[in-house]
Amino acid sequence: MQEKIMEDKTFKITLSQSDQRISYQSIPEENIIESLARQGREVRKACDNGACGVCLTRLYAGEIDYGLREPFGLNQKEREQGYILPCIAHCKTDIEIEAPPAPRPKRNRP
Ligand code: FES
Repeated sequence: MQEKIMEDKTFKITLSQSDQRISYQSIPEENIIESLARQGREVRKACDNGACGVCLTRLYAGEIDYGLREPFGLNQKEREQGYILPCIAHCKTDIEIEAPPAPRPKRNRP
């Protein structure tokens, strides 16, 4: 029964940007980008599998988990500096992260 309670737990994702803090809810089956997108916050991404590093953002507080995925898009220095890849990261606790970059505007081609 204790395991079931833990599985159903939701976590708070707080985005910090300058003096602003905005919080979102995360459910265990969603990665961080999916949780933000479900609540209307779009984030820049490309590969969606932890390989390219485009979604790179800094973890200020809390713990994340990559499960069986490997964050190949992070180099050793970035890991040591607390960067994470939210496209494959799931919350293990409430977290506070740097607001990830927004998607690039679409180009209008002639
Ligand atoms: S979108 Fe490529 S590592 Fe996150």
